[in-house]
Amino acid sequence: MTREAIQPFIRNAWYIAAWSEELDDGLLARTIMNEPIVLYRDADGTPGGLEDRCCHRGAPLTHGTIVEAGLECGYHGLTFDTKGNCVRIPGQKNIPPQARVRSYPVVERDQILWIWMGDPARADETLIIDYPYHDQPGEWPHRKAMFPIKANYMLMIDNLMDLTHLGYVHRQTIGGNPGQHVAADMDTRQTDHGAYFIRWMLDHDPPPTYRKGGKFEGKVDRWQEFEYVGPSIVLQWSGALDVGRGAQEDRNKTGFHLRLLHGATPETETSFHYFWSTANGYRQDDPQATQEMYDEIYPTFIEDKEIMEAQQARVNLDPERALVGIHADSALSLARLSLAKLIEEDRNMMAVAAE
Ligand code: FES
Ligand SMILES: [Fe+2]
Repeated sequence: MTREAIQPFIRNAWYIAAWSEELDDGLLARTIMNEPIVLYRDADGTPGGLEDRCCHRGAPLTHGTIVEAGLECGYHGLTFDTKGNCVRIPGQKNIPPQARVRSYPVVERDQILWIWMGDPARADETLIIDYPYHDQPGEWPHRKAMFPIKANYMLMIDNLMDLTHLGYVHRQTIGGNPGQHVAADMDTRQTDHGAYFIRWMLDHDPPPTYRKGGKFEGKVDRWQEFEYVGPSIVLQWSGALDVGRGAQEDRNKTGFHLRLLHGATPETETSFHYFWSTANGYRQDDPQATQEMYDEIYPTFIEDKEIMEAQQARVNLDPERALVGIHADSALSLARLSLAKLIEEDRNMMAVAAE
């Protein structure tokens, strides 16, 4: 079990580098695992990720421009393709083989740019999770966001895998009564790639966000289903139906439900990029419903950001000190167990790559 707050990077995995729409304005600078990266689209729209440091004099390539042949450095005009090869040096024909920059495998899928930070030979695209909802605006209209958070990425996973914090951190928003959260009926299990839980709060007062979004008048049966797909993704499906509508038998009935994608991409050991999107499975033809839910969730996640940053500041005083587990941590513990396995596997892969 990994009880320390600060967990090491796992390189051989896919991470969210950016939302597709973040490249609409051109070059994007983003540090991932302490490595400055430039993300961009080349002239035909193919996305690329290169080390944000020109091999000539070290200028950041984010100061450059997209030209027909690739990404042209803004200092002396060396141009690189998406594989990191230098394809043009102004004033000379011969391009030395060492004139190249590191390139990262980048795959665009479901309006997400996924990046592989490990051995490129292991970048297996079939390992990328499917998230079809971003491309289903009729059924799942959505909004996306990204917050920088000053905490180790695993504090985010801990946060999502222990929802008893809702009654405390989010008392004013999605939370509701702390006692009902602690008493929620929980079904937790380990999966091949992480951990899963579903919790039910039956015959429960809808929290303010649900009352507004779902227009509930009485009590509801509320569920929260979370799946951690290690190392950095959590898939969420939450909702509620009026008591008596058989929510436990069929959650797909017309009612109030949401799908959220959470991605915690490490920036440094003590900071990460928090990508989240929220899709509403109700009032789909009403753009106001999507906006309202986004406006409700946004301050909730700011509450999470604040508690995690405060937590990290304390952890920084004594980073090695182990954290104490409690009963409510059952899903969190399974997530960390699978993380420990991923760390071990990644170490072995990195050792092989270094040989
Ligand atoms: S530093 Fe990039 S071309 Fe000189
Ligand atoms: Fe939270």
